Amino acid sequence: MQIKSDKEIKIMRHSSYIVSKILDEIEGIIKPGVTTKDIDNYAEYRIKEMNAEPSFKGYCGYLHSICISINNEVSHGIPTYQRIIMFGDIVKVDIGVYYQGFHGDSCITIPINKVSLEASRLIKATKEALYAGIKKVKEGHYLSDIAIAIEKVIHKYDYTIVEEYTGHGIGYNLHEEPIIFNSLSNQNFDIKLKAGMIFTIEPIVNQKSKYTKILSDGWTVVTIDHGLSAQFEHTVLVTHKGYEILTNKN
Ligand code: MF3
Ligand code: CO
Repeated sequence: MQIKSDKEIKIMRHSSYIVSKILDEIEGIIKPGVTTKDIDNYAEYRIKEMNAEPSFKGYCGYLHSICISINNEVSHGIPTYQRIIMFGDIVKVDIGVYYQGFHGDSCITIPINKVSLEASRLIKATKEALYAGIKKVKEGHYLSDIAIAIEKVIHKYDYTIVEEYTGHGIGYNLHEEPIIFNSLSNQNFDIKLKAGMIFTIEPIVNQKSKYTKILSDGWTVVTIDHGLSAQFEHTVLVTHKGYEILTNKN
């Protein structure tokens, strides 16, 4: 597992800044009637305008710049001109950006206008879980501390955590070692955190069953019981004192 140099960290602050800036802009423009491909086009245009490249395009044959997953879609939703965003949807927008040799990665769940009480509670729980995990990031702490903190929040709300998709180290590659688990259920290793490590934390939280399946498009992951799913993700740097969230747009 890599320790990033000060120079590398500086670049990753910027690739991550681009991600969070564009997510923030998308939060402002997304509305009922817009297609998921419109959002993808916007993201790609802005990424290129900021002299960067979309990390996802070309990754494992993926053809788009963002993943956009709605309601019961858990992750890796494909942008299309057919899919129209509707009043009451919860929309997960996931963006990766490659800038001067380094990646940044973040995901948010956006409620479209007024969503159900249950949907907004799920979003609140997921965000709370991400930040509970982030607060455990500090040199000398363990990956398991992060997983335990996330799990505790989700159990409090009586939701479930998807186990087959996790956070990851990030840097020269979009996905690097180690895997960042969101629960202890299937975690069979542990790592002590060191200053200079950079990884994503990205819990996916389901309203009902934790189990998922992949649709015949080969990408879109959905809940098996059609329950709602939410996700938040940040790229985070481990420091001596704690953490720095890189995908914050400041
Ligand atoms: N956003 C996912 C992650 O955080 C990766 C998307 S992979 C792609 O790890 F192929 F869909 F782009
Ligand atoms: Co990620």
